[in-house]
Amino acid sequence: MARGKFITFEGGEGGGKSTQVKRLIAALESAGIRAISTREPGGAPASEDIRELLVSGAVDRWTPMAEVLLNYAAREIHVAKTIIPALDQGIWVISDRFADSTMAYQGYGGGIDRDRIVNIHKAVLNDFMPDLTLILDLPVEQGLARAGKRLANDASNEDRFERMGRDFHNRLREGFLAIASDDPKRCRVINAEVDADAVFAAVTDAVNDALGVTI
Ligand code: TMP
Repeated sequence: MARGKFITFEGGEGGGKSTQVKRLIAALESAGIRAISTREPGGAPASEDIRELLVSGAVDRWTPMAEVLLNYAAREIHVAKTIIPALDQGIWVISDRFADSTMAYQGYGGGIDRDRIVNIHKAVLNDFMPDLTLILDLPVEQGLARAGKRLANDASNEDRFERMGRDFHNRLREGFLAIASDDPKRCRVINAEVDADAVFAAVTDAVNDALGVTI
């Protein structure tokens, strides 16, 4: 049986990742490709426990290096218990965030030396990376306005990163664009300023082109 493909969505706040993940799963299923959605931090029971620690509470609750380590603890469990078993069964895995978020948020945003993050990745996961990464890009003001609306309408208090300053979010956007230009084979930047249908058209084009399917 062919191994499943691993696709990740990345980007700053308010880019509409979760909508695109759902639509991609539906399109893959209609094309006869089994697929599951997952997210980071999270995606396995113990990793969701770690998520709770990361996304709520005071902005300065953790240091950026502690955030790297907590995210990699959650990620190691997620990969071992959810992602690899699915890929081994031929199931495609679509994740809302993965390792590039650590590089962007804690590296470019939080100022952790990028080589240290690369070394931690290697120590924990060797060279395991997605087959395709779709970076939903939009201006910071627009993303934060959208994320603010979403948070006002839901009962969670997962807003710790949204509350970080404007400079942090600008560094984040630049970080994701730099990650994409460093690894153009794996990463596609998608303009998320347009409506969800237009974003999804770009997502399907990228998946078809990069992974040789027709959805
Ligand atoms: P979400 O808002 O996309 O659900 O992601 C939760 C928050 O966690 C988001 O603000 C980004 C942040 N995050 C990191 O800072 N580092 C990471 O490695 C990951 C996966 C997420």
